[in-house]
Amino acid sequence: MSDTLKIEQRSQGVIHHDYHRGLGDLLLEAGKAMIPNPETRHRLLSTLAAVSDAIPPRSRPNSDLEKTIRFHDRSVPLTLGSPIMLAAGGNKFAEHLAGFSALGFGAVSVGSATSGPREGNPFRPRMHMLPLDRSMSNSMGLNNPGIEVIATEVDKALGACHRRKLALGISVADTPGIEDADKKIADVLATFRRAYRAADYIELNVSCPNTGDNRLDAQEAFLADLLREIMEARKTLAPKKAVLVKISPDLSARALDGNLQIIADAGVTGLVLFNTFPGDKARYLKMNTAEAHIPPVSASGAKGGISGRILYKNTLPAVQYIRRQLPKLAIFACGGVDHGSKVLDLLDAGADAVQCYTVLAYRWNAVRKMNRELLDAMRSRGIQSLDSHAPAA
Ligand SMILES: Cc1cc2nc3c(=O)[nH]c(=O)nc-3n(C[C@H](O)[C@H](O)[C@H](O)COP(=O)(O)O)c2cc1C
Repeated sequence: MSDTLKIEQRSQGVIHHDYHRGLGDLLLEAGKAMIPNPETRHRLLSTLAAVSDAIPPRSRPNSDLEKTIRFHDRSVPLTLGSPIMLAAGGNKFAEHLAGFSALGFGAVSVGSATSGPREGNPFRPRMHMLPLDRSMSNSMGLNNPGIEVIATEVDKALGACHRRKLALGISVADTPGIEDADKKIADVLATFRRAYRAADYIELNVSCPNTGDNRLDAQEAFLADLLREIMEARKTLAPKKAVLVKISPDLSARALDGNLQIIADAGVTGLVLFNTFPGDKARYLKMNTAEAHIPPVSASGAKGGISGRILYKNTLPAVQYIRRQLPKLAIFACGGVDHGSKVLDLLDAGADAVQCYTVLAYRWNAVRKMNRELLDAMRSRGIQSLDSHAPAA
């Protein structure tokens, strides 16, 4: 049995993800029929954010959902209008950033950015819907316009975003294909330094399953060297900003503990849990979708990374486990968050914020609805505001 499944078995309690599907959800389904390519629909998300921001009344999350994240390493705190962040990949081109507050978000993790522009993987389609699991598989391959474009857009948008209590992070990734370890570290450091000047916080994406390279979180010695260099670089930069490492959900228990040790030794601020789950190991997820029905995303038959609801059963127990192991580390929980009650469960388990992306392909107005569900869940548990709420864990 895989260690991933052992983690799943530590999960207790009820998972909340049933919700009423309204007219907007029916229209979303109709939109899918009209625009069948998920990648095209995904590019419309930023346009939707811009339109939502332009059309009054501009909805902002309830002030009881505001949350200031104070980091243990005294990195600059983040002030979020909602604890729900857009996960990396949702806005790869840094477009219409301020508009994401009108969609209900409290932060956007922009990118992932690499040092130069990338087209991503050459084959199409690179995204597939897996509706039986309200999930998705993708193999985008880190398409992005490069750090200079992304950081410039973040620089331009930051003031407007802060006025809306929307924090901006940049997700930094290594450029696939660089073999030499020193050159790889220099590549990531250059991207990191530019991102650091622009963003409120930095995510280091060491877990992309879709580039053809070995993931960095599977190479412990290299990961330790990389994080040491990154954290040394941070000492030379002011002000001190949060640096979080985003890891994979399929690590064995030994590999997870190995990563946690490296991360703790390096003194990073926190973790993003998790990236997509490698589709080639989909059998461990016990999906409703038959493995044979997960479409390959390349001529080699590789299956991309799986995101969405099916991941949640690992996300919650992983947050609980890591909070116990490393109580001081900040945690942004990510993977299958599609209901406001899940947001509260994750915050109660010790997450500082949550991230989501795939739910946007399945629920109309998803984040504003999740904010309302979160408020309802807070009220029913007697919680007045998130800022005054201490996790139950
Ligand atoms: C189409 C797509 C592209 C993604 N691109 C990135 C990326 O560039 N960098 C990254 O760190 N994660 C990326 N992710 C992973 C998400 O940030 C997130 O970790 C994962 O989708 C799980 O969250 P979800 O279940 O809410 O979608 C991507 C996910 C999808 C579906």
